[in-house]
Amino acid sequence: MDIEGLDIESEIGKVGRVICEHDRKKGLLIPILHRIQEDYGYLPGEVLERLSKKLDLPLAEIYSVASFYNQFHFTPRGRKIVRVCTGTACHVRGAGEVLDTLENRFHIEVGETTGDLAMTLETVGCVGCCGLAPVATVNDDVVGEIGPKKVESLIKMIEEEEQDG
Ligand code: FES
Repeated sequence: MDIEGLDIESEIGKVGRVICEHDRKKGLLIPILHRIQEDYGYLPGEVLERLSKKLDLPLAEIYSVASFYNQFHFTPRGRKIVRVCTGTACHVRGAGEVLDTLENRFHIEVGETTGDLAMTLETVGCVGCCGLAPVATVNDDVVGEIGPKKVESLIKMIEEEEQDG
């Protein structure tokens, strides 16, 4: 490559400005992604495409940043997020049965959402209430000692949600 006549200082300055601008846009990305998720409940692909054009950042880069953080979701989420704790204490005290019951009743697997968006079923590591094992959380509420009776009430609550939804 012929670099004769090239003003190295000026070129470095230009590259520096491009990097700064790029970093600035990337810095904006996380708060914007949070905002989109607040509005839609997840990050819709078409909104990310528009964002990519608006910020002039490659879509792949936006996906790469968003997928680094597990609080961002790329598919619609349920109105109730049910997380069954699969930590050791909950595991030995029947978390697997709780999960099986929920999966069978709603015909979904862990990580999936019911078709009517009533519920998303997930697992979570120890939530710090091992004395109440097995434990599940429903949005921000902790449900301890979740035996067959409480699972049934939870199912009923979600079914009512389905009807309301
Ligand atoms: S293992 Fe489930 S709350 Fe600790």
